[in-house]
Amino acid sequence: MPNHSILILPGDGIGPEVMAEVRKVINWFATHRNLSFDVTEDLVGGAAYDAHGKPLSDETMAHAQAVDAVLLGAVGGPKYDDLDFSLKPERGLLRLRKEMDLFANLRPAQCFDALAGFSSLKPEIVSGLDIMIVRELTSGIYFGEPRGIHDDGDGGRVGINTQRYTTEEIRRVARAAFDLARKRDNRVCSMEKANVMESGILWREEVSWVHEHEYPDVALTHMYADAGAMQLVRNPKQFDVIVTDNLFGDLLSDAAAMLTGSLGMLPSASLGAIARNGLPKALYEPVHGSAPDIAGQGKANPIACILSFAMALRYSFDLGAEADLVEGAVEAVLARGLRTADLLGEDGTEPVTTSEMGDAIVAALDAT
Ligand code: NAD
Ligand code: IPM
Ligand code: MN
Repeated sequence: MPNHSILILPGDGIGPEVMAEVRKVINWFATHRNLSFDVTEDLVGGAAYDAHGKPLSDETMAHAQAVDAVLLGAVGGPKYDDLDFSLKPERGLLRLRKEMDLFANLRPAQCFDALAGFSSLKPEIVSGLDIMIVRELTSGIYFGEPRGIHDDGDGGRVGINTQRYTTEEIRRVARAAFDLARKRDNRVCSMEKANVMESGILWREEVSWVHEHEYPDVALTHMYADAGAMQLVRNPKQFDVIVTDNLFGDLLSDAAAMLTGSLGMLPSASLGAIARNGLPKALYEPVHGSAPDIAGQGKANPIACILSFAMALRYSFDLGAEADLVEGAVEAVLARGLRTADLLGEDGTEPVTTSEMGDAIVAALDAT
């Protein structure tokens, strides 16, 4: 069996709480399916700053480069608000994404039947929803130069970030989106603002170029990202795969999360180029953050993190059947009515804790 090495970076806030539940699922596969993962754990974000004075040490960065898959919880929190920009917890995560060159961020938004009533939209708008947002993750305005805060020479200051995309950066993420579409409903909608941004014009031209030359069999449409946001809440089921830039993808995926009932439900995979071992460099993390408002209270929904591990099984270890098992266990538990607090209204139903939800998912795996 291949090595199956995993680096776990729980991070801050609810990160360690939800990751503890992922550990239970990993242990279940070791015990019941003879799949042993070589798991190591390290620090990222505020936790790494507290230990080393940096949000990601060089040793941890090197370790992340060497393993088959990184699983990350979440980073950040109010305790670190006043730190110098370069030391903020979020910089640790951004360094991982950039140095591992994880350019394709897959953010699926699926609405489990049992949760159709929990979305802020009407059940008929979201039931059966299954879309995949592919967010470019290593370029655009998050990383473009020039950037910074400077004196404006007139007694004030100026804050600068630069949206910048090259042909190849656009083409490679477009290919990732078209490849995924071929395994799904074969449709891609590309979102930018070509009406106001030159980088948007290039984005549209290059996505069209890849389509015409390499994926003519896939249906491609284009939409301005603001209209796309509106369509995402008006009629989300019209989409199959959405491909978009780093910042638009960040916003659109948080909005898509609420279609599924809670931000605590959305997993993600951040993939790079295929390496010599045939695997992509990869990091898996929930879409949500460290949720400081509920940290330490046993209220966090661990499902986004557990489903992120399912994505690792599928994309890093070629264990699609095992990923299906995890997703099926989550579905079974939700169908039985188990809910963490984020998925409950004010109807007085008692929520289960983070740990009880993890235990129930493991029990559902036992039942398979
Ligand atoms: P957040 O995602 O942490 O929280 C937004 C809201 O969703 C909160 O009310 C929170 O309680 C709720 N929520 C989030 N995840 C949940 C879960 N699993 N179960 C139940 N409820 C959940 O976003 P924020 O409050 O804007 O950011 C808090 C910190 O997290 C910031 O420092 C931010 O930079 C960081 N952040 C990190 C990541 C990441 O590590 N990938 C992503 C987003 C935000
Ligand atoms: C996300 C987060 C991150 C982002 C932050 C924490 C750096 O919001 O993963 O969606 O903006 O990409
Ligand atoms: Mn985000």
